Amino acid sequence: MAKAQPQFTCTACGATHRKWAGRCEACGAWNSIIEEAPLSAGPGPRVGKGRSIALTTLADSEAPPPRNTSGMAELDRVLGGGLVAASAILVGGDPGIGKSTLLLQATSAFAAKGLKTLYISGEEAAAQVRLRAARLGLAQAPVQLGAETNLRDILATLDTERPDLVVIDSIQTMWLDSVESAPGSVAQVRAAAHELVSFAKRRGVSVILVGHVTKEGQIAGPRVVEHMVDTVLYFEGERGHQFRILRAVKNRFGPADEIGVFEMTGRGLAEVANPSALFLSERGTPAPGSVVFAGIEGTRPMLTEIQALVAPSPLGTPRRTVVGLDSARLSTILAVLEARCGIPFAGMDVFLNVAGGMRVQEPAADLAVACALLSAREDVALPADTVVFGEISLSGALRPVAQTENRLKEAQKLGFCAAIAPKLAKPADQPGIALKQMPDLAEVVGQVFGAG
Ligand code: TYD
Ligand code: MG
Repeated sequence: MAKAQPQFTCTACGATHRKWAGRCEACGAWNSIIEEAPLSAGPGPRVGKGRSIALTTLADSEAPPPRNTSGMAELDRVLGGGLVAASAILVGGDPGIGKSTLLLQATSAFAAKGLKTLYISGEEAAAQVRLRAARLGLAQAPVQLGAETNLRDILATLDTERPDLVVIDSIQTMWLDSVESAPGSVAQVRAAAHELVSFAKRRGVSVILVGHVTKEGQIAGPRVVEHMVDTVLYFEGERGHQFRILRAVKNRFGPADEIGVFEMTGRGLAEVANPSALFLSERGTPAPGSVVFAGIEGTRPMLTEIQALVAPSPLGTPRRTVVGLDSARLSTILAVLEARCGIPFAGMDVFLNVAGGMRVQEPAADLAVACALLSAREDVALPADTVVFGEISLSGALRPVAQTENRLKEAQKLGFCAAIAPKLAKPADQPGIALKQMPDLAEVVGQVFGAG
């Protein structure tokens, strides 16, 4: 028998390589490749003819999948309107961000709605989970609790219990005796997730898998199982901030990019129904460098404050520090300001930050970023009652963005009365908001900041 070749696997994305390398070619992660035991040959290929499968047409009608709501509105929305029966969901996030807390609250909420729910902890002893439940005021919730890491035993238990929903916290602690490598390895995580997902489909049980995001090292990250599940949610937030954001990055049963906002309190996670008000609550008197961006997250408008600081740099290569935004986007906007509007940032340190620990990915934030940079550089504060949004093209022109009316409506609701935005083909009418439509960035520089 031929000797099995050793196999090298990236713990971040699961790609396999023939030899070890410092950097994974598939996902670009550093130091993530480890040697794994080759997969055992198994019983060998089955010989025999396949049978033909029954085919249908696309026109066959399908009832919408039945959903169960938890009553936690922020969670239900991110799931696409509730939990779909027999679906597999991955909840990823940094260790300590609050995944276990969120899912304990979620299981209790679903249990209160009459679902039979099971919470399997592979990380904490049952007593620890009970202590947390007591702290959250959920000690009486009808959730069945198990502390186990042997997947074979868990599957047998699920088979007899037949719950509606089971939470596996976390997938990286689970192990199958048929796989040789250690728990947390790519092979184990993949095999365990595969078993659980196929169990979910076969038995009509919804499964929520918790996965820790790993920076580097020997533990496989949640990306390894992303393609196996129906829905991928990431729970994110900045350390030191109370806000936590549950973001759908993939959803077979609803819109991706939807977010739910929570606040970590002494008694667990509290839902934040009006995030704009919360994100702007720390805002003081208008200061140079601060701009309110009227954004859209999923289906919901959300106002956030973008802050910039521009200062002469003592360094040969000035600093560009970005928190909560894409740093490549900052470079592009700086280049457009320099090339199209004649405003140089050479020799200056630039710091850019989204207040409150929010992360903004929309291109519509371009104009708000540019305004924050200009405001900081020219030391001119924008009026406190103004919101900004719009995409900047490389030519310096401003492009209209989707959902202008929703953005204006949210701004008006929160007491703003002016907006700086791209020129619109069809005028948007929002009573109470004076809309300043700008064709390009040079116009903003001249009219708003009197520079250029
Ligand atoms: P946890 O849910 O254990 O995180 P994860 O499962 O993602 O690793 O949350 C841990 C943090 O949450 C911990 O630092 C303490 C904090 N926390 C609160 O602030 N309030 C609470 O009510 C609870 C239960 C936790
Ligand atoms: Mg945990």
